[in-house]
Amino acid sequence: MEPRRSRNVTARAAVPPGVPGAVPEDGETAARARGDGAAGRAGVAVEPLPPGVPEPAPEVAAIEFDRVSKTYPNGVVAVRDVSLSIAPGEFVFIVGPTGTGKSTLMKMIYREELPTSGRVLVDGRDVTRLPARHVPFLRRRVGVVFQDFKLLPRRTARENVAFALEVTGVPSREVPRRVADVLEVVGLAGRADALPGEMSAGEQQRVSIARALVHRPPLLLADEPTGNLDPDTSWEIMQLLSQINLRATTVVVTTHDKMVVDVLRRRVIALDAGAVVRDQRRGRYGG
Ligand SMILES: Nc1ncnc2c1ncn2[C@@H]1O[C@H](COP(=O)(O)OP(=O)(O)OP(=O)(O)O)[C@@H](O)[C@H]1O
Ligand SMILES: [Mg+2]
Repeated sequence: MEPRRSRNVTARAAVPPGVPGAVPEDGETAARARGDGAAGRAGVAVEPLPPGVPEPAPEVAAIEFDRVSKTYPNGVVAVRDVSLSIAPGEFVFIVGPTGTGKSTLMKMIYREELPTSGRVLVDGRDVTRLPARHVPFLRRRVGVVFQDFKLLPRRTARENVAFALEVTGVPSREVPRRVADVLEVVGLAGRADALPGEMSAGEQQRVSIARALVHRPPLLLADEPTGNLDPDTSWEIMQLLSQINLRATTVVVTTHDKMVVDVLRRRVIALDAGAVVRDQRRGRYGG
């Protein structure tokens, strides 16, 4: 598959501001011109710019995979030739059977794993070429939430979140305010002094979301965030992730939660055996 980026640039060239008649009428093409999700890969022909109209700057994708493949040292091919682009502000589900490369894809975004070939761009920067000393800066721009919360068991909700700030050298006078603000966002203002063992699984996941948000990252990744939660709590956590997305944060969620995906009808990217087999703008879990 041809890398998405070049097509996106062409698509945006079709609708320079102030050029009458250049805005496509049908929804798919209009979405494509905005750089929206799956519709952007529709491959619809676009009008050339009239003479003298400057080429608009291409919108920088929040995440771009450009022909990315990943083979682990044991020979397992986890990701095969994936090219996709996620625009700033999108909410995307990544679905697919177990072992199809969802977590591997996520890990390559925050540089936990490197691809064997291809490029991964975050905010337009190729993170595969990022010097190791710059990785902590990337991690502050990419919040990550896991299925198993990964909280420090002997620290309270407040301390778990504060720790994420303290290790990056945020001035200590700023820490209490920022922690309180983010605990408020996730609905845990009243539970700040609870230890993980004193909280429900849903509350613990809220703490881990607060920790992921405390650096105010433009991008939030959640790898099966509801995998350990009952259906009602899963729904609440997905609602919270949707609300966070409305606060101008790009959100990417891997999930096996069919019900939630089918109700929310957001962009769905389906993987099978490491390859993208479906990418729909208002998708369902099973196509
Ligand atoms: N560190 C690793 N070393 C070797 N093989 C790995 C490693 N991590 C994952 N794999 C393999 O790569 C493939 C993709 O794994 P991955 O964890 O990305 O799948 P997944 O879609 O997230 O699965 P699940 O839905 O079970 O979380 C699997 O075959 C897995 O066994
Ligand atoms: Mg996984």
